[in-house]
Amino acid sequence: MIIKPSQALKPNHLLTEADVTPEHIYRERRKFMQQGGWALAGGVLSTFAPSLFASGLSYKATQYGKKETLTPEEAVTSYNNFYELGTGKSDPVNNADQLKTQDWKITVEGHAENTGVFALEDIIKKQQLEERIYRLRCVEAWSMVIPWVGFSLADMLKQFKPTSKAKYVEFTSIYDPKNLKAQSSLFSTIDWPYKEGLRMDEAMNELTFMATGLYGKSLPNQNGAPIRLVVPWKYGFKSIKSIVKIRFTDTMPETTWSQIAPREYGFYANVNPNVDHPRWSQASERRLPTSFFNIKKIPTQMFNGYEQQVAHLYKGMDLTRYY
Ligand code: MTE
Repeated sequence: MIIKPSQALKPNHLLTEADVTPEHIYRERRKFMQQGGWALAGGVLSTFAPSLFASGLSYKATQYGKKETLTPEEAVTSYNNFYELGTGKSDPVNNADQLKTQDWKITVEGHAENTGVFALEDIIKKQQLEERIYRLRCVEAWSMVIPWVGFSLADMLKQFKPTSKAKYVEFTSIYDPKNLKAQSSLFSTIDWPYKEGLRMDEAMNELTFMATGLYGKSLPNQNGAPIRLVVPWKYGFKSIKSIVKIRFTDTMPETTWSQIAPREYGFYANVNPNVDHPRWSQASERRLPTSFFNIKKIPTQMFNGYEQQVAHLYKGMDLTRYY
């Protein structure tokens, strides 16, 4: 979705089909940027083609996922899992304005030299934004291909100088029960705030990404604004949204889904077609968007197809036990 100038102030979750630019135009824009278009364009193109620039984010194109067919932005931003905004797939887009992202801060704690409370913009300004196209495989057996904008988690964590005692990193999402209605609901199964964690070597792997945007512009609230994790070889629930705290620990942190159902959702949660969820098969997935007549089932790949980059992290581990 590329915002037309007239729509620039309309919240993402209110954009209609008519406000959306089709994928081929997005692709063209991407190609243009890859060819150094930003540098060449100066003020000239912005006069002739304002919609190319209206989305604002300036980032570097990369080779990640270049050959993938993207999931249309409409699906990426309207079929979501974000329990803070409701449990239905369209609740996050419909309740997106419950998430307040102004003056976002991230608290850094634990085994690191540079701890404290940091304004998000101070963290981001040290990073060069880039685009990476990754597959996202949900544990519920659906998947998407998403062009994220952000930076490597490793580069961000280095800012905080973790010490040798840091063996894991724990992430915590926003806790704001006044505005996020699900967090004050008596019926919620989640012990808020949502928490996730990675082993330090997983966190420092080159694929692990912090996204601040998608489809060329800032993250919509329903996708985890203003900053979320993306771990493409793990089930989607590891990719925690709207992060407010990072803590370096020497023991494995508790994580939301393994607290709720430890037999179903382990700490590692690596995508693995050979280890079924206790209640359904993980051998294949529905590539979204699907329809009643076209359920695009494709085989699930080991580590979601990122085996070459990450298999070494689990050498010697029994992946049926450490699921
Ligand atoms: N992060 C938070 N804070 N709350 C959530 O409910 N859901 C997870 C993950 N991150 C979730 C979250 C799940 S189950 C998935 S599949 C992905 O976000 C979905 O990301 P998307 O909605 O951007 O596709």
